[in-house]
Amino acid sequence: MSEAPLFEIDDLHVSADGNEILRGVSLTIRAGEIHALMGPNGSGKSTLASSLLGSPEYEVTSGRIHFQGDDITEWGADDRGRSGLFLAFQYPQTIPGVSVLNFLRQAWSARKGIDLSMLELRLQIMDWMERLDMDPSFADRYLNEGFSGGEKKRNEILQMAILEPELAILDETDSGLDIDALRVVAEGVREVRKDRPELGLLVVTHYQRLLDELQPSHVHVLIDGRIVASGGMELAHRVESEGFEAWQTAAAAAAS
Ligand SMILES: Nc1ncnc2c1ncn2[C@@H]1O[C@H](COP(=O)(O)OP(=O)(O)OP(=O)(O)O)[C@@H](O)[C@H]1O
Ligand SMILES: [Mg+2]
Repeated sequence: MSEAPLFEIDDLHVSADGNEILRGVSLTIRAGEIHALMGPNGSGKSTLASSLLGSPEYEVTSGRIHFQGDDITEWGADDRGRSGLFLAFQYPQTIPGVSVLNFLRQAWSARKGIDLSMLELRLQIMDWMERLDMDPSFADRYLNEGFSGGEKKRNEILQMAILEPELAILDETDSGLDIDALRVVAEGVREVRKDRPELGLLVVTHYQRLLDELQPSHVHVLIDGRIVASGGMELAHRVESEGFEAWQTAAAAAAS
């Protein structure tokens, strides 16, 4: 018998404010795979990412989510994080008076269920900051306070490196990422996967360049709350040259 996949979404329907946004999404991610999710604005990509993390504003009306063999559909965000699911932008807010170091210490304890001394953690963080090309003073800055776009990205990748998730979901759609920030994400992911090649990734992006760098094993196109096409990098190239129009027209025709 083959082992259960790392992560499996089965016919997921999700509503917000009484409107159905995801209308039957199925997706399987195995350890070590990089999946890219593409789709036009408003197609439901961020809704999917937030739902997977158990964000309370989204209601799963039907379908199941399995992670490492457990049915996590009803789990809260904390339990999901503890079990090794990671969403960049999970902690995007500025938290007054909480330094990067302190924040990571709390998050680490929550994830691993044991405390780490400040010294041990600082050593770990210093090591990663060097690998991620970050200034050492960064650890003592307040979380997200005055961070540039590139610094926010570095901070997210640092969280991912330190918390050692089994599956990371990166939603890169909304913020206007410049080339530097894109490079930070791509290089950071590569660096983390050097240590942990089994890390699964779901990357939401409009940026062809990020996909060129990450070389996802699977690419999916989400239109109007449904995955309408899945394939490899050739699908991302098709999106780049043709846009989403053909799929949107087909989806609209199917719906009418
Ligand atoms: N909390 C909410 N309440 C009501 N409607 C919502 C909520 N969150 C999302 N929506 C709606 O669901 C649809 C999908 O939004 P979502 O943010 O998931 O799109 P997206 O694919 O991430 O778009 P983009 O590429 O612009 O980031 C939109 O029409 C949006 O207005
Ligand atoms: Mg989005």
